[in-house]
Amino acid sequence: MSNLEELVQEINRFEAIISEWDESQRCVAVGLKRAIEALHKAALTSLIKSLKQESMSALRHAVTDEVVYAVLLYHELVKPPKPPLTQRIQTALEEVRPDLKSHNGDIELVAIKPPDTVEVRLIGTCSSCPASNLTLSQGVEQAIKTHCPEITKVVAVNNNSTVNAASSSLISPFPPKLSSSWIKVATIEQVPELGVLAVEFAGSSLILYRQGITFRCYHNACAHLGNPIDEGKIENGIITCPFHGFEYNLETGECLTAPNISLQSYPVKIKDNKVFVKLQK
Ligand code: FES
Repeated sequence: MSNLEELVQEINRFEAIISEWDESQRCVAVGLKRAIEALHKAALTSLIKSLKQESMSALRHAVTDEVVYAVLLYHELVKPPKPPLTQRIQTALEEVRPDLKSHNGDIELVAIKPPDTVEVRLIGTCSSCPASNLTLSQGVEQAIKTHCPEITKVVAVNNNSTVNAASSSLISPFPPKLSSSWIKVATIEQVPELGVLAVEFAGSSLILYRQGITFRCYHNACAHLGNPIDEGKIENGIITCPFHGFEYNLETGECLTAPNISLQSYPVKIKDNKVFVKLQK
């Protein structure tokens, strides 16, 4: 037998025969195979160690032989070849795409600029969102760097998208159903002082914030990707979204992480110890 393919075919032929045996016989054959493989792996590991000390170039040369490389790969003594850079970048973008799409956005690869830079374009809502820099650095850049450690710069290029031109301010894009009447959602005792209470109304989640006799109501949806924020840490009237760390002033709803973004807020009134809100814009 002269080449790798023939050797592999021979192994496959024996494996097919063994697979027809009864279980006890198969276990013996598999045990023997594992024991021989463990012996070979130990020998190869020692051989590589010695070769490394003597001559790295000899080791590199040996690995260029396809049979040597295949056996070392089988024993996990060499790393498998990486997919091409473009493929790894696309894999990274695929990972973040569902999050961006849930926000009516998307991303595309514009260019790879060797040795260390990738240009991308945020499209749809993401292109005009004031949080786009954070979207880029927290999601996209991290995913690309994980898959492609050789990339150190991820740059968003200008886009020509006409979708949703940037406005001077942006309210959370995840509003609940609206209602023109006052709805009782809690009693004042249920809302913790300087804390938030999450309440459900008509399938929507709201948070109530209380500071003394002042109450605020917001939609329980982070302006970043719409995740609920009621489990976030609260300190000095600032709530931090537990998902990616956007911070909001609970007094005003204003986002402190990305300028010009606010939580969707709703009017509140107190009557007879009860908290009422009106889900109007
Ligand atoms: S969902 Fe990303 S910071 Fe809140």
